[in-house]
This record gives sequence, C-alpha cells and structure tokens, in this order.
Amino acid sequence: MILVVSIGGSVLTSNLDPERIRKYASSIQALAEEHTTYIVVGGGRIARDYITAARDLGANEVECDIIGIDMTRINAKLLIAAMGNSAYPVPLTSYQDARNAALTGRVVVMGGLIPGQTTDAVSAVLAEYVGADLLINATSVDGVYTADPNLDSKAEKISSMTPSQLVDIVIKINMSAGSNSPLDPLAAKIIQRCGIKTIVIDGREPGNINEAAAGRHNGTLISVSPGR
Ligand code: UTP
Repeated sequence: MILVVSIGGSVLTSNLDPERIRKYASSIQALAEEHTTYIVVGGGRIARDYITAARDLGANEVECDIIGIDMTRINAKLLIAAMGNSAYPVPLTSYQDARNAALTGRVVVMGGLIPGQTTDAVSAVLAEYVGADLLINATSVDGVYTADPNLDSKAEKISSMTPSQLVDIVIKINMSAGSNSPLDPLAAKIIQRCGIKTIVIDGREPGNINEAAAGRHNGTLISVSPGR
C-alpha cells in the first residue's frame, strides 16, 4: 500500500541521539520493503528553541514559521543520513516533487512546506495527493483524547472515531490557551475532506509504526467507518 508517516520531531530527534534516529531508519526501511513510503518529519524541541529565540529577537510569526520549517528539514536530513541509499537524498520541498521522487522507489522524506501550519497538515495533504491508503501520525501522546489530558484529568483516550469527531475535538482543544492538540486543525479538516484512514499512535517506540502499518496499535483510529 501507499503509506504516509508523520513523525513528530519530539520523538525522532529528542536529545539528538544518533542511535535513536538509526532505529527509526531501520523501522522505516522495513516498512519500505512492503509499501511505498513517504515520511514527514517534525521540528521537535530544537525547532521550538530556535523559534523562541527568533521571536525574542523581534521576528514575526511568519519568520518564526520559516525557521521552524528549516529545522524540520534539518531533522529530515538526519533521518536521510541514517537511511543511506534507501532514502531519496534530499528533503522534498513540494508535494509534486515528493510524488515524483517516489517513482525512484526510494523512501521520500520531507519536513514542513509553508508558514501557518505544522507538519501534521503537510502529511495530511501529502496523503490525499499521493492517494495514500493509510496515514500514520507517530507522536509523543498515545492517541486522541476527549480533551487535553494535560489539562483535564477526566480526559479519556478514544480508540476509534470519525474524521468529523476529530475536527470537533481538535477545535475544542485549540480554544483553550496553552493546550496541546493531537493534530493541527488544518490536518483534521483535510482528513475530513478526503476521508483517509488515519492512525494516531505513540511514536516514541519506532516499532509501533510497523505494528500500526500491519493493523495493530493501541492508539486512535480515525476512519469514516470506525471499527474497521
Ligand atoms: P512541527 O510540525 O514539528 O510543529 O513544526 P509542532 O506542532 O510545533 O511540533 P510537534 O508536532 O510537537 O513535533 C515545527 C514548526 O515549524 C513551522 C511551525 O512554526 C511549526 O510549529 N512549520 C512547520 C510551518 O510553518 N509550516 C509547515 O508546513 C511545517
């Protein structure tokens, strides 16, 4: 199948541990033996640190976003370095180039694209564009909750839901200041628009990505026909 995997920078490059990045590279190489695989890499803490510094120096939010995008691409380059010949050698900077690069048979790795969104949205648009069968969002929480679990002790993990339910939850969470959303609202809307099957999983263990591709996970399934 055609697979798009969004890997949060917080899970891939936390502490810049080469061993950790190597493990993700191995997991992805195993995936790519069976599937056409696209990887979208997030910015993580390093992006946030650079954005905070730039903001303090007077950069506006678009300038900060551009710095964030640069950092996602640096993270993508680390993953490409760990994957050797199995990855297309540079992070792609447009959806068209990404689709063309996949024709080489190599894993396509990219970071962010344009200001005003996150790599969640990139992965959702890419998944729609390339006609992916499955979008896996590997992040630092283990699924989508009824509310932000950091703010609401009654928040419960949802094992399966429709894209419309996802949109409702994401919009609600984003309205409370300082909260974390499992997926950005634009990504949720794109998933609703194209109805692509999406699984949100705890990506801190790279093997979870392979398990999810095989249909086994403890996260949240987002599907127009939940339960499947
Ligand atoms: P991330 O996708 O990592 O965002 O992009 P995030 O939600 O802050 O981090 P995770 O999900 O916890 O890893 C890092 C930053 O890069 C900019 C945004 O400023 C974003 O916060 N960015 C990224 C864009 O402006 N456009 C993009 O397409 C991607």
